[in-house]
Amino acid sequence: MIFRFVIALQAVFVTLCYGLVARNNNNLQEQFLVKNLPGLYSNIPKDDLPLMFSGQLELYSENKTYYYFWKYADQNKIDIAKNKTIFWLNGGPGCSSMDGALMEAGPFRINDKGEVTYNHGSWHKAADVVFVDQPSGTGFSYSDKYDADLNGVVHEFLRFLDKYFEVFPEDFHNDIYIAGESYAGQYIPYVSKGILDRNRQTDDETKKFNLKGLLIGNGWIAPNEQSLSYLPFAYQAGVVNEKSSKWSSLLDQQEKCQSIVNEINAGTLDKGVNVHNIVNKECEKILNMIMSSSLDRSKDTNEQCINIYDYTLRDSFPSCGMNWPPDLTNVNPFLNDDKVLDLLNVKEHRKWRECSSGVSSHLKNKLEPAVKLLPAILEEIPILLFNGNRDIICNYMGTEDFIKNLEWNGGIGWQTDDDADTTEDLKADKYKGSKLASDWVYDDETVGYIKQSRNLTFVNVFDASHMVPFDKPFVSRSLIDLMLKEYDEDVRDDGKRVFITYPLGTRPKSIPEDEKPSETESDAAVSSATVSDSTSSESTSSTEASDISSTTSRITRLIQLSVICILIWGIYVLYGSYKSRPSSIIKTGPSSGKKKNVQWADQLRSFQEGDTVPEEGESGVPIDHKAGFLAKAYNKLTGSNGEGSGQYVPAPSDDIELAVVDADLSNFEIHSDEEAEESQSPRGPVGSV
Ligand SMILES: *[C@@H]1O[C@H](CO)[C@@H](O)[C@H](O)[C@H]1NC(C)=O
Ligand SMILES: *[C@@H]1O[C@H](CO)[C@@H](O)[C@H](O)[C@H]1NC(C)=O
Ligand SMILES: *[C@@H]1O[C@H](CO)[C@@H](O)[C@H](O)[C@H]1NC(C)=O
Repeated sequence: MIFRFVIALQAVFVTLCYGLVARNNNNLQEQFLVKNLPGLYSNIPKDDLPLMFSGQLELYSENKTYYYFWKYADQNKIDIAKNKTIFWLNGGPGCSSMDGALMEAGPFRINDKGEVTYNHGSWHKAADVVFVDQPSGTGFSYSDKYDADLNGVVHEFLRFLDKYFEVFPEDFHNDIYIAGESYAGQYIPYVSKGILDRNRQTDDETKKFNLKGLLIGNGWIAPNEQSLSYLPFAYQAGVVNEKSSKWSSLLDQQEKCQSIVNEINAGTLDKGVNVHNIVNKECEKILNMIMSSSLDRSKDTNEQCINIYDYTLRDSFPSCGMNWPPDLTNVNPFLNDDKVLDLLNVKEHRKWRECSSGVSSHLKNKLEPAVKLLPAILEEIPILLFNGNRDIICNYMGTEDFIKNLEWNGGIGWQTDDDADTTEDLKADKYKGSKLASDWVYDDETVGYIKQSRNLTFVNVFDASHMVPFDKPFVSRSLIDLMLKEYDEDVRDDGKRVFITYPLGTRPKSIPEDEKPSETESDAAVSSATVSDSTSSESTSSTEASDISSTTSRITRLIQLSVICILIWGIYVLYGSYKSRPSSIIKTGPSSGKKKNVQWADQLRSFQEGDTVPEEGESGVPIDHKAGFLAKAYNKLTGSNGEGSGQYVPAPSDDIELAVVDADLSNFEIHSDEEAEESQSPRGPVGSV
């Protein structure tokens, strides 16, 4: 009872006190404030409750373009987390960054009761993190028009940044990082080039974005080299071998792909290679063959095919990874719950789905692949590329291979003797760690290896899938330390270099000698006014053990503040009675008569949404998963829409409506439990890839 009361008070405190600040400082922010979520005040540790803003920012009224974002800021920032903003983008094209927010780097996971639970490895403790659904048509971002190419994506993202900083002007001078995954390996370099170009073109210092670095996870950056890496990777991982039924056709296919890539490199093939197509269907077929050669009908239904995002996992055929990660089972209903959407200030929307095939089918990219942009970017800012070592589709070998060929900051590749490998040799030894690789030790464990030179860092993260923060939240957060150079270096007896990072805030020399918890108390009033100013948890280690003295001081502070806030609340209630909208903070009722009048390009063709969320079966032609598992796998996380491959026919409507396809839905649920267990159990020896 008392607990509930305290929780309620806390809700009052967070919202009203913040509300005052917001009203004084920036009225715009208030409409984006997230005041509650199912499970927020009961499941999330008090000290870790993020200050959140979420909603749809208008970019253009002309074509009704709105971008959805969800920002998380720690209210008890440690020093290193101050004045930093990370924008996170998922890939696809067309996959919502709510993947990143609710299954990867964000503070929440969704449980089977539809409540948020805490991710103790959340990145928001290391920097403010803003998850952005982009380009329009992705997640809760929408427009009359889809983007036709990456130039359009850049144009809109720059606009988004301008609008974002209008709402959060205090973030403008922050160090800005852009992070993301998979097809964001195309988005991020393009967007960054757009930012750096714009910075160069303006003399007005107040218009320059303070871009400081990029973090790209399992990025689809260099289609040529990455396509050629499928077979060597699968071979080395033991997914295929000389005895595999498809071995000789695989070798043939590899040769075909290689000769096309050779032509591209020699300039004898059309230079405007469409990165969507993963170079071409010949290269795409390699992956297709690898997946189908893993089919084993003698296994359990849920285990018949290898998981394309983590070769240590299996999935049903022909899903081969599409049912993964298991968290999707809870995230889907959460993001389609009107109560939740109301709390997230999502006003106009279609049914949320993880990935929109409409976005990918419209993004007819004829521009050069993003790898070509890296050298110019590296002249100005550092880039960190990381790969979960179990991913097949954007595997680490492909990343290493394209780096070998990359010329940047005065050299080609890492510039060491042992980089003389050629990719045509499939022998496993060729791909074992090079001397240049330094071990990465986090929290006293070797968690990966690192190569670093001339502003480029490559990190191979052990025991991680395509979605590194999903498997390794703490380790993934420490990638930020690598970017910020918050690591120690050591040289072992055998001459091997080691990078050492530490659980959040525990790096020996970065801990202030004198912790001053008492100061926090006397600062309470000030802290309340600025909300994010408290430093009390600065010295707390990343472990979730709560500090009793800090708790006590917090309770004292809470009581003081509660009194103030109850007074304010009274005023607020009076004030609220003048307004027609509800003033209750813990508002859980469904919004009545919420208008959902969304205009979509494909609506003009076949989809009539009207004023309501689509009913089952109303949503047009769902993608036939069984017709092309690779189609969706590509679409979901690397960006191929399989166009021209004959595997995937873009549906007239852009929906992948998992929820309305009965067969798929049942597959989904049957598999999820088993996979949940599976993905939590440790798999294979560390660094076996
Ligand atoms: C860092 O952020 C705080 C709070 O937003 C602000 O008061 C301060 O001026 C910032 N410092 C710098 C160097 O931008
Ligand atoms: C929407 O309109 C704005 C303003 O005219 C324009 O800059 C933008 O490119 C348009 N978006 C698309 C996808 O055409
Ligand atoms: C690397 O990045 C820094 C900014 O972090 C920049 O000043 C420098 O010129 C870049 N180039 C090289 C070769 O280090």
